[in-house]
Amino acid sequence: MLSVVLVLVFLSCGILAWRRRNRNKDEPPPLPGALPLIGHIHLLLGNSSQLWDLTKKMSYACLNAGGVASFYIGPRPMYLVTDPEDCMLITNTCLQKDAFYDFGKPWLGDGLITAAFPIWKVHRKLLNPAFNQFILDGFIDVFNRQARRLVKDLVGEVDKGPFDQFDYLLPSSLETTCLTVMAVDFSDKSLLNSKYVHATQNMYKFVTERFQKPWLHSDVTFNWSSLKRKQDESLKIMRNMSDTVLKKRKAEYLNNKKQAKPEDTAEGPKFTPFIDILLELAIEKGAFSDRQIKEHVDTLLLSGYDTTASALMYTMLLVGSYPEVQEKIGDELHNIFGDKDRDVTKQDLSELVYLEAVLKETIRMYPLAPIIARKLDQDIKLRNYTLSNGRTCLLSAYGLHRHPIWGPNVEQFKPERWLNSETLPQCPTAFSGFGMGRRICIGKSYALMSMKTTLAHVFRRYRVSGNHLLMKTNLDVMLKPVSGYYIKIEMRKKT
Ligand code: HEM
Repeated sequence: MLSVVLVLVFLSCGILAWRRRNRNKDEPPPLPGALPLIGHIHLLLGNSSQLWDLTKKMSYACLNAGGVASFYIGPRPMYLVTDPEDCMLITNTCLQKDAFYDFGKPWLGDGLITAAFPIWKVHRKLLNPAFNQFILDGFIDVFNRQARRLVKDLVGEVDKGPFDQFDYLLPSSLETTCLTVMAVDFSDKSLLNSKYVHATQNMYKFVTERFQKPWLHSDVTFNWSSLKRKQDESLKIMRNMSDTVLKKRKAEYLNNKKQAKPEDTAEGPKFTPFIDILLELAIEKGAFSDRQIKEHVDTLLLSGYDTTASALMYTMLLVGSYPEVQEKIGDELHNIFGDKDRDVTKQDLSELVYLEAVLKETIRMYPLAPIIARKLDQDIKLRNYTLSNGRTCLLSAYGLHRHPIWGPNVEQFKPERWLNSETLPQCPTAFSGFGMGRRICIGKSYALMSMKTTLAHVFRRYRVSGNHLLMKTNLDVMLKPVSGYYIKIEMRKKT
């Protein structure tokens, strides 16, 4: 036994010495904490709360190292980047997602998030028009209706003390996204219920667990694991939903076509769920197979509902923690709506400047996707280093959002920083809450419209209070709150 240990130690010292001697001068410095042979693997072990602590620690270490660093998962070298200019160059040059995204493929297939570059290039071009402003304007009525329902549901919590806001925000965001993506509402409880929400939340956990256990990275070992069996159970629930919806909607689409209804000649935006655009592209132009439509629907549903619910949750908690911010939101709402309880219009959305600043500042403080990854498909020459072709490159939005480029108050929640474009960082990647480079979020405008409408309704009616400093979070692919995120609400007094 002793001889095995001695051989291993000898071998690892040899590998480390060899690595150091052969380290290209242009290679970024290693992050602290590497052990011989295994590199930084030991730091990955633990639960997703430890993974989040590690992400923060490594992001700060990378900032201190000048914005680019390397680390090792066993013998596999990877990079971590927190420099805005370097992140921009990498994400505009390398459009291939890293192999880690393949863990999500059984779920999202060739949807835009997980698609390999050649498919992504064609499908993103086809889907971009589905997110144009005219189509999005057709969703405002849904956003208003949903926000009113949320406000009504919350009445039961008034003056009752702290409550779990996710119990309201997750179903509300899921329903809004289901309506806009698939034209399905919650009246069909057999399709969309808490089982679906649990299945998607569990999938995040399974993907994270697989990432933290390098021996499950290979499909061969993973396919034999109990984690795979649990994953399959969740997938069954999610697939059942998208299969059923697609069959139903496709039949309706073909039926409507057969009956050749006269063209709707009414002017202005009309409600067009994304699934109808996908079906039209599939049926009229042969652009997608049924499998691909389902994968896009699953991707849009997941990326739409979970992110907006979380961003609303963090925003309400932060606003509840800063009374002066809540006052300013109240003033802005009063200037726009007076005492009227009317719907939010397209015009109002462009005037809700402070509310949008609060949302962006919240996502800067709590980036929902704190780390994204790209596979380098060529050598990338940065200002100070050259990154090698073939390696994994992690880009830390958490680190970017704490870069000194944001000024001395970078750690503070200051929505006002968004109101003066001259003092904001000029590099577009400094704010990466919606991703960066050419694979940036396709749903950014949708998300801002939907969240601003919801918050305008909520803050017109309620005053919230909470304390974000008590919140504990995990990294389950996305930044997830686990405790301390409850808020209290009371009625806002009329001025
Ligand atoms: C607060 C809300 C949202 C946040 C913070 C957010 C964040 C992000 C981030 C960080 C990425 C980049 C992922 C990567 O590079 O690996 C992304 C991509 C994406 N998001 Fe969003 N998102 C939000 C809302 C939405 C909505 C509402 C939709 C659709 C209805 C959506 C659809 C997508 C899609 C399809 C991609 C993949 C884009 C591509 O690779 O071409 N997102 N999002």
